[in-house]
Amino acid sequence: MRIATERLLLRATNPQFAEAVAEYLVRNREAHREWNPPMPDRLFTQEGQHERLVAAAESETDGSQVGWFLSLKGDEKVIGHIRFSQIVRGPFCNAMLGYSIDSGLEGRGLMREALEAALSDVFSPRVMLHRVQANVRPENTRSLGLLDRLGFVREGYARNYLFIGGAWRDHVMTARINPAWRASREPSCS
Ligand SMILES: CC(C)(COP(=O)(O)OP(=O)(O)OC[C@H]1O[C@@H](n2cnc3c(N)ncnc32)[C@H](O)[C@@H]1OP(=O)(O)O)[C@@H](O)C(=O)NCCC(=O)NCCS
Repeated sequence: MRIATERLLLRATNPQFAEAVAEYLVRNREAHREWNPPMPDRLFTQEGQHERLVAAAESETDGSQVGWFLSLKGDEKVIGHIRFSQIVRGPFCNAMLGYSIDSGLEGRGLMREALEAALSDVFSPRVMLHRVQANVRPENTRSLGLLDRLGFVREGYARNYLFIGGAWRDHVMTARINPAWRASREPSCS
């Protein structure tokens, strides 16, 4: 499964991407350290990534996650990722959103382009989420600006929310509601 945007290709998780994903993580390890929870060293290797991607692909098949790896059109290199995780159905129909892009490609509107497409997908009948939640460190002004631009609403402030960079970090809690979901429509997802 893939989604094409003007400049990008979003490809669903495939264990064959293990080498390209490990290279992406190694390339951005320092740049992303202050925004993402620490990862075991093994995930920075092709073998460790292969195991993780096999598990992630299974989660996508059973509907508990939707994940995308980003490439510039015409290039196989992985330059970012988007993941809707912890998908809960029933009366919640909610997911947690995570994302990152190569530090050398920031500020060109690429993540906005990718997230607009990925959000359209999870709000479409294919996935049909009602709400997507994204939590961000208050210092991460770029990520907060991106979420503002995408119509996420700031809903609260969670103290000591995630352990990142050696300490428990506060997070701004934001969410976007599916604009196509009529207020009276009952969730059919189970
Ligand atoms: C956060 C991140 C994904 C943004 O990606 P990006 O491709 O640089 O974002 P975009 O260029 O699409 O920016 C989208 C919007 O963000 C806002 N923005 C961009 N740079 C900004 C900055 N330096 N300060 C404040 N807002 C900014 C703008 O509103 C922009 O809208 P525009 O396209 O109309 O100008 C990227 O910086 C990243 O991967 N950071 C490290 C990992 C991370 O923080 N992940 C998120 C954890 S919550």
